Amino acid sequence: MDSAEQEAFEATIAADSTIEPRDWMPEEYRRTLIRQIAQHAHSEIIGMQPEGNWIGRAPTLARKAILLAKVQDEAGHGLYLYAAAETLGVSRDDLERRLLDGRQKYSSIFNYPTLTWADVGAIGWLVDGAAIVNQVPLCRCSYGPYARAMIRICKEESFHQRQGFDILYTLTRGTDEQRAMAQDAVDRWWYPSLAMFGPPDAISTHTERSMAWRIKRFSNDHLRQKFVDMIVPQAEVLGVRLPDPALRFNAKTGHWEFTPPDYDELFAVISGRGPANRQRLTHRRTAYEEGAWVREAAVAYAAKAAARAASQSSGTAGPPRAPAVPDEVA
Ligand SMILES: [Fe+2]
Ligand SMILES: [Fe+2]
Repeated sequence: MDSAEQEAFEATIAADSTIEPRDWMPEEYRRTLIRQIAQHAHSEIIGMQPEGNWIGRAPTLARKAILLAKVQDEAGHGLYLYAAAETLGVSRDDLERRLLDGRQKYSSIFNYPTLTWADVGAIGWLVDGAAIVNQVPLCRCSYGPYARAMIRICKEESFHQRQGFDILYTLTRGTDEQRAMAQDAVDRWWYPSLAMFGPPDAISTHTERSMAWRIKRFSNDHLRQKFVDMIVPQAEVLGVRLPDPALRFNAKTGHWEFTPPDYDELFAVISGRGPANRQRLTHRRTAYEEGAWVREAAVAYAAKAAARAASQSSGTAGPPRAPAVPDEVA
């Protein structure tokens, strides 16, 4: 390593400027980013499943259209993030394989099942709400392509949170049964949402370094507190009870005190022992295998287009043009 390169890197970070793909960066910085961005991309893609499960059963046409758009947004988030990871010298296909064989993780929250329609509301309100609190600071992350991807993602996440809030708002103004369904969903999603911020600072392994590199701006516990402070007044508007008897406002600190999530459960779910881990990965593997022909066709088409372009520029006749619609389909 050249010390001038190291100095330039550190000066860029200290000046709060961005590191770009062609800039020199320490290997550990690159590896940390690949791990974090890939894990984030996988979470977006796996996260389509619990809600996708409800698209066909959404209670009205409008709810169906909104949920469909939301789940498609998550696919888009996955794609921006895989593209950002590729600028660090890994291929999307390689990352996908690392997800499928368990070498890379995704957010533990998506290993919980969606049992009722109110779960779709609770996910939008709490899970997308936690995602916003986690992700807004990433818009100022030191790695340029990741920071820029996050700006657009965060705009869409605020729509996601509102649609979840709106579902719960409608239910809590409905029948007793609908109110009970909304409360039950909030009861089940509250602690898994708090766990989305990761282990407590005292035992978090990556925090210190990521903060020094300005990949991460705030610690897990800081963001968890920010989330609780944001959610409590919204719960009051909704008229739902957050399932924590210890929840109380501390006038001295200006923050809500709360019971932390069960971190043993978080680690169990991360290591594959959550309620839906197997189902999520099996579904993803099947989708990957069933999509193989699409990837192969795209590669074959790109090769033909490149060969045609090359033959046109050299003036020789290239391979025959492929019909726009394959014969078998037409
Ligand atoms: Fe997302
Ligand atoms: Fe979202």
